[in-house]
Amino acid sequence: MASRPIVLVTGATGRVGRLVVDGLLSGGAHVRTLVRSPQASNLPPQAEVAQGDLHEPATVAKAAAGADAAFLLWPGFSAAGAEPVIEALTGQVAHLVHLSAARLQRDEHGPMPGVWSDVESIIERSPGTATFVRSGGFAANTLEWAEQVRAGDVVRMPYPGAGRSLVHERDLADVAVRALLDRRHAGRAYVATGPESLSCQDQVRVIGEVLGRRLRAQAQPLEQAREQWSGLMGATFAEQSLAYWAGLVDEPERVTTDVEAVTGHPARSYETWVRDHAGEFRG
Ligand SMILES: NC(=O)c1ccc[n+]([C@@H]2O[C@H](COP(=O)([O-])OP(=O)(O)OC[C@H]3O[C@@H](n4cnc5c(N)ncnc54)[C@H](OP(=O)(O)O)[C@@H]3O)[C@@H](O)[C@H]2O)c1
Repeated sequence: MASRPIVLVTGATGRVGRLVVDGLLSGGAHVRTLVRSPQASNLPPQAEVAQGDLHEPATVAKAAAGADAAFLLWPGFSAAGAEPVIEALTGQVAHLVHLSAARLQRDEHGPMPGVWSDVESIIERSPGTATFVRSGGFAANTLEWAEQVRAGDVVRMPYPGAGRSLVHERDLADVAVRALLDRRHAGRAYVATGPESLSCQDQVRVIGEVLGRRLRAQAQPLEQAREQWSGLMGATFAEQSLAYWAGLVDEPERVTTDVEAVTGHPARSYETWVRDHAGEFRG
């Protein structure tokens, strides 16, 4: 890799991607971002901006030309269209770091079918090296509750007892940056989680403690959740997700030490994440 590596970042305007951009710039990399709307991207001036779309492989190949490595997130809930994009990337860069999901490993009989395992399989069949950053549930997913928190003291979700090892987006970005800048991470799959597994009702309690309020979780009727989630992610993915959450009541997501092993610092707690985002719950 060049002494000042050129790294292409997709999803650079997103929650994780912005932090990947910052981390790469601090690490001395030349950062190029692939963004759909350069004018609205509001990225640091040191980052080069290439206009492109992950549904238009030719724009991806153009943006990746001359880069050493790329950070790839795949938007959406199906892998349709991912193959030509990954071909376009791996035709240009030697190393990919892909933001995937711990959830795909849940079934001990093999990877859970769906977008994450499909995209990983395409990458595995492609030339070059890759690192998979398999994320636990994003702590940021709980911002879905922000409106309810602002409106009252009861937060509704399906399966309040479901246990998740929620991870701070900063930790995901820290792991990704290491994997982009240090090829010793090539060929590895990390499961990046928070330091503990918390049930949804405990997550609500933590939000309340940080805000200085007494909040409580309440089970949402499944039909209502199904309708809401289907609207957000499509019926198939919503159904898979509800089944996944149901399973987490008796068997919470596992906790790993991969964040610390890769970055040298312990994973940030959910409480830290809530403190960092308290303003979004206060409105
Ligand atoms: N939520 C979870 O619990 C979880 C768990 C595991 C893995 N993941 C993965 O994490 C990723 C989401 O990360 P995030 O939360 O940081 O993202 P985010 O904040 O939702 O932002 C999405 C990013 O993707 C970009 N994007 C969307 N469609 C695009 C397209 N067609 N072409 C180019 N760019 C496009 C957006 O750019 P614009 O500014 O143009 O919109 C934005 O930068 C997904 O791939 C998801 O599968 C999530």
